[in-house]
Amino acid sequence: MYSEKVMDHFMNPRNVGEIENPDGVGQVGNARCGDIMKIYLKIEDNRIVDIKFKTFGCGAAIATSSMATELVKGKTIEEALALTNKAVADALDGLPPIKMHCSVLAEEAIKAAIEDYRSKQLVKSK
Ligand code: FES
Repeated sequence: MYSEKVMDHFMNPRNVGEIENPDGVGQVGNARCGDIMKIYLKIEDNRIVDIKFKTFGCGAAIATSSMATELVKGKTIEEALALTNKAVADALDGLPPIKMHCSVLAEEAIKAAIEDYRSKQLVKSK
């Protein structure tokens, strides 16, 4: 049912954990199942230099979080904002249709963390 890549990222998730003094934090819940994801960002010169996540969720949510963090690490904020859950699922060689909703968590958590970063920047510049 799951691709080898999904199983690999589920069994050996990349970038799990927390970042001390993060520049942005995003937490979202999945309305369909109640699972939760938290993303921590370290940003330098508009680029994501480090990213970590914690997911209290199903295997597909963990695998998509892991892949999403790999995809946006080293990218600019604008590039990270353009990441879609479909691109994450494609990078994992697809997800079963009933599990596609799980992949939305990663996209939304990254966007929420970037928003948090931007709002902090605004406060600093005032
Ligand atoms: Fe909740 Fe997959 S079942 S994120």
